[in-house]
Amino acid sequence: MKGLGVSHSTDEFEVAAEMSHDGTLAPACARRIQEVLDSAGFVVIPGILSSSEADEALALVRAAIDDPARTSAGFASETDSLYRRRDFCPMASSPEVIELSATLCQRLQEVLKEYCGRSRSVLEISTLTSYLGSSHQYVHRDPYGALCMFVAVDEVTAEQGGTVFVPRTHMYGGAEMQFDGKGYLLMELFRRACNWKILRHNLAKLWRIRQTGQPKLSPGEFRDRVFSRKMDAHQPNLARFLLGKTYQFNILMLNPVALWQMFRYRRIIDESFSMVQTVPAKGTVILYRSDVLHAGPDNNSERPRYIFSMSIARDIMHPGQWEYGYAPHSTLRAHPLSLGDLLDMKPKARERSAREARVLERG
Ligand SMILES: [Fe+2]
Repeated sequence: MKGLGVSHSTDEFEVAAEMSHDGTLAPACARRIQEVLDSAGFVVIPGILSSSEADEALALVRAAIDDPARTSAGFASETDSLYRRRDFCPMASSPEVIELSATLCQRLQEVLKEYCGRSRSVLEISTLTSYLGSSHQYVHRDPYGALCMFVAVDEVTAEQGGTVFVPRTHMYGGAEMQFDGKGYLLMELFRRACNWKILRHNLAKLWRIRQTGQPKLSPGEFRDRVFSRKMDAHQPNLARFLLGKTYQFNILMLNPVALWQMFRYRRIIDESFSMVQTVPAKGTVILYRSDVLHAGPDNNSERPRYIFSMSIARDIMHPGQWEYGYAPHSTLRAHPLSLGDLLDMKPKARERSAREARVLERG
């Protein structure tokens, strides 16, 4: 992360969980969480899961990763997935996974209900695991219209690559009216400047790995990460970068007009935007609007970074967008869930829903 200008000070974006007797967030705590989510586009909530609950959730994540039949989510770096630098996989709707999802939604319901109606779809339930040698994702927005939840089922350090956010870059009604109507322009210029640094960071790191042999690269990995002709939005892929085919960031985004604007507005961009890296303790939940700028950093530790993740729609969503941006497991496709389903579930109902999903999948 050196040289990327990332801040590790997240106090401003943290609200510790305070629970009511009924197991949901205390009203004052829920209000504070909502205020931070509204103003920053994300919020860090330590203490939603106990240590033993996080251990159980981690066991589910590990089981999903160890499943040889697991599938990978396409929106992560495909090359990182191919060389086992990341495991971003949808999780099957087992009774335990549904139980965990329902528990999280029920505890957070006072906040979730402010953004997602009861009928809104659970878009995906997945694991986001990264390993030593993964690359730093480009700063990007996920497809508009979801509220996303990351759960630290283990301690996450900066070295392991806690998610980076750019506060106050979410796309609420009229957000572009900030900065005399240049809100989205300045955000995009900042994003491009960050991604230029990330491109150089990834290239320098790959070169260092190649020189030192640490960590060991698989045969063909260096070539695939630097010179691949395959689509991968988050790898350097120099030929595609120069041809303008890496859609998150490419040379065309550094055209003369953009460079002039970066220079012209450099002061206001510097003063208004920064990358903040979260380092969530075990049991912490991060909620973010899918449209806030963010990135999954590289893992520079021997220790895998484990995250349980769930996304819930804030509105209706076109199936194409759902398919493009989210990765529902076949069991979730076969037996869709809404936020209301998870909020209403009692333990037995959760088991039945999972059983039905398995039957539907087999059928
Ligand atoms: Fe993302």
